[in-house]
Parts: sequence; structure tokens; C-alpha cells
Amino acid sequence: MYVQKANAPTRKPVTVPSLRAMKAEGRRIVMLTAYDASFAAQLEMAGVDVALVGDSLGMVVQGHASTLSVTLDQMVYHTGMVARGLHATLLVADLPFMADRDVPHALEAGARLVGEGGAAMVKIEGASPHILEAISALTERVIPVCSHLGLTPQSVHKFGGFRIQGRAQEAADALVAQAQAVEAAGASLLVLEGIPSTLGERITRAVSIPTIGIGAGPHCDGQVLVIHDMLGITPGKRPKFSKDFLAGRDSVAAAIAAYAEEVRSGAFPAPEHGFD
Ligand code: KIV
Repeated sequence: MYVQKANAPTRKPVTVPSLRAMKAEGRRIVMLTAYDASFAAQLEMAGVDVALVGDSLGMVVQGHASTLSVTLDQMVYHTGMVARGLHATLLVADLPFMADRDVPHALEAGARLVGEGGAAMVKIEGASPHILEAISALTERVIPVCSHLGLTPQSVHKFGGFRIQGRAQEAADALVAQAQAVEAAGASLLVLEGIPSTLGERITRAVSIPTIGIGAGPHCDGQVLVIHDMLGITPGKRPKFSKDFLAGRDSVAAAIAAYAEEVRSGAFPAPEHGFD
């Protein structure tokens, strides 16, 4: 039987202000996705700083080819399950596709993910004007926001596939400007996905909020992976930016602990996990 928080460890809870302190102190932030209470408990036991209920669940849990069919109800359902497995690990939940189409919808989605689901922060993709407005509206109503820039999966059709972003100088400059804009709008955390390592470093220096990379090189303030990728159970080819941490280890707990250790020491990501 799944045992709830009775056996919760005494680790100090990770908070939105403590993430900023970690950047200031040069302590790398360990983030990993989770979609249910049992895996959330594994993250908690391994001392992962931030759990993300990503809309990647549409792909790795539901078997879709993209994240676009995930609904707000499904996100609230999975967020609630993950919240019940956590104690000190900070919980971030994704606003699914079109939940951020305007400020009222973004506020409604944020309120449900925090109020019903138990998230401490919500993640929003992009930096177009209505997204900046939504970030401001959420943060003004005390819902902390994690921004997500670069290869934002909800833009898969606009990009023509899951393609690395920011390779050309102009595109790189635009992403730096977007990162500064989401910080100015009130974002507390910034996920950078699928960009050259040099650009990950440049953006990390250009903003004062912590950056979390996934295929964004070793210079971000932290790293995130999809748990199915880092356990080597995603069907098909392993994404270049990921690593199978279960290979050579005998448990999920050992794999997550190794991931946390390698992120904190800077051993992961290695150059082969990045893009030029
Ligand atoms: O949905 C997700 O899991 C994500 C991560 C890939 C950052 O957004």
C-alpha cells in the first residue's frame, strides 16, 4: 500500500525564495517530472528540489505524439496525485495547451492547479504579449510562475517539429530578450529547452531568476528531465539531451539519486548531451 506523508523526511521544504537563493549561492537545482504519487515519493526520497507535472504526460503516460491533447482536468488530476507524494520538494504544474489563451483562462487554470492540485507554481510556455500579461496577472494574484522558452513543445506545429531553437544570431538575441521580458513580467523560474549550450549560458547570465535547462547545456542554474527518459523506458531512441540513469543500477531510487548527484556536481549534462 502506498504510505502517505507519515514517513515524510525532515528535509527543509524548497520554496520559491529558496530557489533564488540557490542561484545566488551557485547551488544547482535538481528538477524532474513526476505524474503520480508513487514516483513523486521517489523524487522526495532522493531529495529532488523541484517536481514538475509536465504536460509531457500526454506523450509518456497517454501515448500521444505531442502534448497538445492534454486537458486542464487531466493536469489537475495528476498534480493532485503528485502533491500527495511530496513533502519538501516544490511542486510545479504545467498550464496545458490553450489554458493560457487569455488572462481569465490563465487565472482560472492557475487557481485550479494551485488550489485543487496543490502546486506551488505554474509553468507557461512562450513570451508573446498575452503570455507576458498572463504571467503578470498570475504573479499579482500570488501564483508564482515558471516560464518555459526555447523549444516549447506546445509550439510543435509552428516550429515544424521538435526542433532546436536559437541557433541563428537573431533568434538567439530574441530568446535573450524574451527571457528578460518574462523576468520583468514576474516569472520566478525559467525552463530553457532545446537551445545551444552557449545560449543557455548567455541567458543564465542575463537574468537574475534561476534557469533550468533541458538540452540547454551545463551552464544553467539547474536541470530537468522527463523521468521516463532518464529511466530509459521511453520507447524509441533516447533523446540526445537525456541519459539513462537506470543503466547499471538496480532501482529507480538509485537512478534518481544518481541523477540528483550528477546535476549537483555538474557531471550532468556532459558535452555530448548539449547542442552547438
Ligand atoms: O512537460 C514537460 O515535461 C516539460 C519539461 C520537458 C520541461 O515541460
